[in-house]
Amino acid sequence: MKKYWTEKVNVEFETGDEATDNYLKWICFQPILRRIYGCSFLPYHDYGKGGRGWRDLWQDCLALLIMDPSNVRQMIVDNYGGVRIDGTNATIIGNKQGEFIADRNNITRVWMDHAFWPFVTTRLYLDQTGDMDVLFEKVPYFKDLQSMRGTAHDKLWNSEYGQKQKTERDHIYFGTVLEHILLQNLCAFYDVGEHNEMRLHGADWNDALDMAWEKGESVAFTCAYAGNLRNIAKTLRQLEEISGSSKIEIAHEMEDLLAGSVELYEDAARKQALLAGYAKKCEHNISGDTIVVRLDQLAANLEGKADWMMKNIRANEWVKDGEDGWFNGYYDNHGRKVEGVMDESVRMMLTGQVFAIMSGTATEDQVESICRSADKYLYDQKAGGYRLNTNFHEEKFDLGRMFGFAYGEKENGAVFSHMAVMYSNALYQRGFAKEGNKVLQALLDAAMEFDNSKMYPGLPEYFDNQGRGLYAYLTGAASWYMLTMITEVFGVKGDCGDLKIAPALMPEQYNQNGKAVLKMTFAGRNFEIIFYNKEKKEFDQLKIQKAACDGKALEITAERCTILSKREIQMLSVKETHKIEIELV
Ligand code: G1P
Repeated sequence: MKKYWTEKVNVEFETGDEATDNYLKWICFQPILRRIYGCSFLPYHDYGKGGRGWRDLWQDCLALLIMDPSNVRQMIVDNYGGVRIDGTNATIIGNKQGEFIADRNNITRVWMDHAFWPFVTTRLYLDQTGDMDVLFEKVPYFKDLQSMRGTAHDKLWNSEYGQKQKTERDHIYFGTVLEHILLQNLCAFYDVGEHNEMRLHGADWNDALDMAWEKGESVAFTCAYAGNLRNIAKTLRQLEEISGSSKIEIAHEMEDLLAGSVELYEDAARKQALLAGYAKKCEHNISGDTIVVRLDQLAANLEGKADWMMKNIRANEWVKDGEDGWFNGYYDNHGRKVEGVMDESVRMMLTGQVFAIMSGTATEDQVESICRSADKYLYDQKAGGYRLNTNFHEEKFDLGRMFGFAYGEKENGAVFSHMAVMYSNALYQRGFAKEGNKVLQALLDAAMEFDNSKMYPGLPEYFDNQGRGLYAYLTGAASWYMLTMITEVFGVKGDCGDLKIAPALMPEQYNQNGKAVLKMTFAGRNFEIIFYNKEKKEFDQLKIQKAACDGKALEITAERCTILSKREIQMLSVKETHKIEIELV
């Protein structure tokens, strides 16, 4: 039994400290537990029924893509079957893969962040495998009573119609995975409130921001979607290059969503009207007709949208605080900016900063400012690091029930592991490795200090004011922690099937001989990747001097980056462990 479970965790870190490495093993085990048990419901928990929701589903795929990728392709394809033709989605997973339930409590609710995650996971899949064909798999759309993005009912629908979207000719409609991705992100683009940022609807990633249905806006996820649009455009361009196809087919109705005038982008009311027009056309059946669009034109269209969004956010949402500042992440149900330096308090939230950084909306200077502000207002070492928000000293019921939690509990200002890890990930992605490391280290230190955290080994969902870990095991944070360690700290990531290695380890993450090791599988091969930094220099002072796989030299593509191509990997045997050695000076 021990052997079985030990072998399930096929990732191993050697970072110069045995206790840490051992603990990281447990963090890598966590996503497996969450898949088995769901994210709540154990007696230890005070909420939930053990199911896994939409967000969790896509999050868990991230860890699977690293540890056990064999079935992930089908999982991704099936999961897209939960998307509705209006870009929203079913939220609960049924008994079988690809089976969905609108909501376990039959509440009509739209989480505005849901459409963001599938592409993030799909992109990681593309990078790990280079399998661009998955984008052309055909999948149906989910259909139920809900229409017009959760604001109306399709009165013509009944259970006899079934749970799959049909066409006028009464056939089930199948669209490509790529079409699903475009639809989700384009619909989100138009779904804006009066400040031209995306509407908050029922909530975003923060489930407890759930009381601003009418006028709430999430700038945080407007950033996130802008990043998605940019990356989808990049994917389309790569698709053209790799597959040679220059056109794709999409549902005829979607043509409306490709409008491309800046005048329209500037006008929130017109955007909403356009989206409503589209959703109305698709309210019951769709025509079943398709149009053909050129990939390069589509990519340019998405880039135009992303650029506009980022520019708009930079111009309107920067909160000034002396020389520094950060981004306002939300509007409340009175249509007021939520964050800022108020008379009686400073209101800052982490989520908006994470996605401004991750998406590239924040300029480099702004990232520096955000780091300083987060250190000043959100960092509390005793509590495990960066809090989700400052104390608002208000039961702010025009934004969400989170303000009904005591400050420092749950989504109200606790150190919430998942968002903290994503903050770190975003910082690493932008080259701020020291700052990113500080976040990861604080979380780990807090969890490992057992007297305080009272944790089973692993990351808790959050730490309370005293640094006690709450909701052991079952959080999406572990998937992200493992992913960040591998793809950012060790810098080992797929790039359309190639394996790129660009380490950003801190000097103390090498052992006393200046050695750090990562063991993992990639493309079905086992690798032991060894990094040497004999003089223990800072990461940004290092250059790769030599890189080799099983003694054969590898191409060094940049100062701190080497690559093992997909072709080279395919020639390696699947039986042995291959040794990649990287010397940094
Ligand atoms: C939980 C939920 C997740 C939600 C988060 C914040 O996080 O599972 O969907 O986004 O709370 O409200 P987790 O326990 O997975 O870290």
